[in-house]
Parts: sequence; C-alpha cells; structure tokens
Amino acid sequence: MKILVTGGLGFIGSHTAVELQNQGFDVVIVDDLSNSSLDVLDGISRITGKTPIFEKLDLREKNTVQNFFKRHSDISGVIHFAASKAVGESVENPLMYYENNISSLVYLLQELEKKGNANFIFSSSCTVYGQAEKMPITEDAPVQQAISPYGNTKQIGEEIIKDVVKVSDINAVLLRYFNPIGAHPSAEIGELPIGVPQNLVPFITQTGIGLRQELSVFGDDYPTPDGTCIRDYIHVVDLAKAHVVALRRLLEKKNVEKTEVFNVGTGKGSSVLEVIHAFEKVSQQKLPYKIVGRREGDVISAYANTDKANKVLGWKAESTLEEALSSAWKWEQKIRKAIKVNS
Ligand code: NAD
Ligand code: WQD
Repeated sequence: MKILVTGGLGFIGSHTAVELQNQGFDVVIVDDLSNSSLDVLDGISRITGKTPIFEKLDLREKNTVQNFFKRHSDISGVIHFAASKAVGESVENPLMYYENNISSLVYLLQELEKKGNANFIFSSSCTVYGQAEKMPITEDAPVQQAISPYGNTKQIGEEIIKDVVKVSDINAVLLRYFNPIGAHPSAEIGELPIGVPQNLVPFITQTGIGLRQELSVFGDDYPTPDGTCIRDYIHVVDLAKAHVVALRRLLEKKNVEKTEVFNVGTGKGSSVLEVIHAFEKVSQQKLPYKIVGRREGDVISAYANTDKANKVLGWKAESTLEEALSSAWKWEQKIRKAIKVNS
C-alpha cells in the first residue's frame, strides 16, 4: 500500500517513513530539501533495507502537485509534514509562512478531493492551545489566539481540513504534537537544525559537544516548582509510531468522526532544569548554562492528557526522557564526527 509522506526527509517525516517501511508500507516521499538533505534518504535505506521512492518537488507549485497525483493515482494515504516551522522567522516573514504552510495544504486537499476515498494526516501542534488553563491538556481545551504566524498556520490548517472533510470523501486525523526530541536509536537519522538551534534539546546537545559555549535558560521566575517552564518532551520514534497507528485507523475505516484530533505527547511535564539534569546524567558531563530573562511568547506550562490517544488509538509513548536525550546525544556525537571528517 502506497503512502505519500510530504516533508519526508525532515526530522519527524524521516522517522515516520522508517516506521511505515518497517510495517510493510510502500513510502513515497516528496520534499523540496528546503530544510533537509538527500543524505536522509540513505539513512532511511540503511535502517530499513529499502529506499523509499523520492521526488524533489515544491508543494507551493500547484501544477507540480497536480502532476504528482496524475503520476501516482494509487496513493492510499497522505501524511503531510511539509511546512516551515521556525516561530521567530514566521514573525519576521509571515507571508512566507502563510504561502508555504497554507498553499501547500490547499493544493494537496484539492487533489485528494478530486480523488475521493482519501486519508489524510496533518502535523498540528500543541501550540494551538496557547497557555491552556488546565493541565494536562485535553483535546477539547479551547484553541487560543495564536501568538505567531507559524502557530496561526496550524490553527488555520486545522480549520481548512475540517471544512473540506465535511463536504468531501476525505477522512482526516489531526495530530497535535507536543515537543518532539531525540533521534533514531541507530543514529542514522535525527534532527538537523540549520544555524543556531531555537529549540531546547538541539541547543543542549550542541553545547554538550562544545559547539556552543553555554545554554541560556529563558527565565527561572515562572510559577512552576523550580521556576523554569514545563513541556512534554516526546521521543520522535514514539511520535512516528503514532502516525502509523492513526493511518491504520483511517485505512481500516475505524474512525468515528470524519476529522479526529489527538494529542501526541507522553503525558508527563518536565522543566528546563529537569531536562538539563537528565542530559547531564546520560552524557555524564556537566552542562554549562546560565539563567537569562524570559523569552517572549513562551507559555509557562504545556503537557498532554493522552487518554484519548491511549484509548482510541491504542498508542502510548514508550520512551523515557532519558532515553530520548540519550538518542539525541548519540546522534549529535555522530554528526559532529562526520562533519569533522568531511571538512
Ligand atoms: P522539518 O523542517 O525537519 O521537516 C519538514 C520538511 O518539509 C523538510 O524536509 C522541508 O525540506 C520540507 N518542506 C518544507 N516546505 C516544503 C515544500 N513547500 N514542498 C516540499 N517540501 C517542503 O520539520 P519537522 O520538525 O519534521 O516538522 C514536521 C511537521 O511537524 C511540520 O509541519 C511542523 O510544523 C510540525 N510540528 C513540528 C514540531 C517540532 O517541534 N518539530 C512540533 C509540532 C508540529
Ligand atoms: C522548550 C523550553 C524555552 C531554548 C516550540 C514552538 C512550538 C513547537 C515546538 C512546532 C521553553 C526553553 C529553549 C533555549 C531555553 N513547534 N529554552 N533555552 O517553545 O515549547 O515550542 O517548538 O509546532 O510551536 O514554539 O520548544 O524547544 O523552543 O523550548 O531555556 O535555548 O526550553 O523557554 O521553556 P517550545 P523549545
């Protein structure tokens, strides 16, 4: 069965491509390589023993998307990861984000609407909840006014999908990811941030390896037990597996609503200092860090209630924070060695 994975050479898409191939699906990846490299395809092949079909294409080009579906009329499901995801960049350049994250989605849905009997999985984000009133966050918590254009593209994306599903033969699952971290345990694929990482874990591992002098902890005066912000860090392999389970539910027509929404997290909140200490434990070294002021736009706390995914999908995150950090550390060590050898 052929599954289209858009953005399949990116961080989460590549891990999902691995899980799909491991479970016998035929994977077709499209990616414009704007935030990934072709080496990732080799990584997926080395892990699974199989090279997915790959087409380098830009989903912002409507004709290209139309032509793709003419050539691949036998796609049974689409998992749509392709998007731009840097929150700060989206504030600087909102139109770039609306064009990439919204146009691509619309063009894909137009083709699926024509095709009929289509299954669609969308990468949404816990960012849609903003600062939720109650922890842990359930799927029925209100969606709050987005703080950034990036966050807004996820909210608008969800609305577009719900509207289209109502009037077409498309069934959809919206997966709201919490904070994905880590890498494949083989260290063949992982996260590859371009430039200075904005996210906590890549900044920690790059500091651990000596690429950055020290980590800045953004605020220790929040109303949390140790004063630092709380997030739900989920191992990317667990997250990837959630996609396969959701896809099967759609393919087997087990969904009870035409659009279903699931939180994908561990259900456990960890503070920034807890993440630092867990990293120090797995890497057996001290991490240089200093406390600085709060980062604009950060919510105090966000962690998932995962009951719905547990009960309805029969999916549960398996890895601990330490296991996820350990895989991220193994990956960081491997890529830095590879970069040194090649330079
Ligand atoms: P990523 O940047 O690693 O992967 C996205 C991939 O899409 C990249 O390989 C990029 O080259 C490709 N791409 C972007 N625009 C494209 C286009 N127009 N045409 C074809 N390919 C295009 O990001 P990721 O971390 O793997 O995130 C995947 C999805 O999950 C995104 O939609 C993101 O918004 C969402 N998400 C990510 C996180 C996170 O923290 N990483 C959290 C919640 C949601
Ligand atoms: C985690 C915690 C920071 C870096 C972002 C996006 C969100 C989603 C996931 C896609 C926070 C602190 C961080 C650093 C720090 N992406 N931190 N020093 O902010 O929860 O979410 O990525 O949908 O939309 O906003 O993740 O990893 O940036 O931060 O102290 O150098 O680490 O303040 O408390 P965040 P993050």
